[in-house]
Amino acid sequence: MKILAINSSFRGPKGVSAFLIDKLFKGAMEKGAECETIHLAELQINHCIDCQLCQTPEHLLNCTFDEKDDANFVFRKMREADLIIFATPVYVLGMSSLLKTLLERSYSTAKVGEFHFTKSRMFFHHVDQALMQKPFVPLVVYDNLETKMPKNIVSYFKTYSKFADAELVGTLIRKSAGMLGVAASQASNHAIADSIFQAYVQAGRELAIQKKISKPTEKKANQPIIRLPFFVKPMLKLGIGKDQIEKGHARMMRSVMKRNQY
Ligand SMILES: Cc1cc2nc3c(=O)[nH]c(=O)nc-3n(C[C@H](O)[C@H](O)[C@H](O)COP(=O)(O)O)c2cc1C
Repeated sequence: MKILAINSSFRGPKGVSAFLIDKLFKGAMEKGAECETIHLAELQINHCIDCQLCQTPEHLLNCTFDEKDDANFVFRKMREADLIIFATPVYVLGMSSLLKTLLERSYSTAKVGEFHFTKSRMFFHHVDQALMQKPFVPLVVYDNLETKMPKNIVSYFKTYSKFADAELVGTLIRKSAGMLGVAASQASNHAIADSIFQAYVQAGRELAIQKKISKPTEKKANQPIIRLPFFVKPMLKLGIGKDQIEKGHARMMRSVMKRNQY
């Protein structure tokens, strides 16, 4: 069982995404899985420039950038893997451009003029099955505490699953990631952070054994670190206490940023 994590954080091995991948891999390796992380920030991957060379009969499925950058290296690792973790921070409400750039490069592995129906009856062009149809887990990390924040990315991967015929075997979403960074350095006396880390290790075990994260483990991994008091949203709706709440939040974020030394 080979698990490949593709980390698209610009902080590479120093970010929260990498930290959480390591937790997952601890559990997966315990159960005998072979695990590898690729940090896209350390590689050179050019944008697909829509030159269409890859669709011409002479160069079918070959890219202008083959041999010139690392996209094929990553694709080879993806083909060899049994399961893929797509790790991305939320950057301005969407996925990391590093990951999107890589996914766009998969265009050169598809015959876009050849159509078929996917398992979920979607009309779609040919894809390289060995590359695109791997079971996968999106791991989304962000600082905000709103559940809606990663909505675009979660929706993207649900759609990806349908069109690529790739099974979505769990979704890991870590909100308030900055808080976790603080907690990580004090893990032994932070009960919620400890519980989240344990859930990640357990999720890794489950992926190695049954290629799927169970719903209870997913729920535990995705639990909030901090909860807004129940009265905050109704107060904001009524226009009460906005300034105090904003000031309180800004104070908390300043202390988080000061204490997070990546
Ligand atoms: C350019 C940029 C844009 C960001 N946009 C958002 C955002 O829209 N929402 C959010 O909650 N966090 C946002 N963040 C914060 C990151 O998601 C957060 O720091 C995350 O932990 C980064 O992942 P990493 O630690 O693996 O690098 C942004 C960070 C950067 C650098």
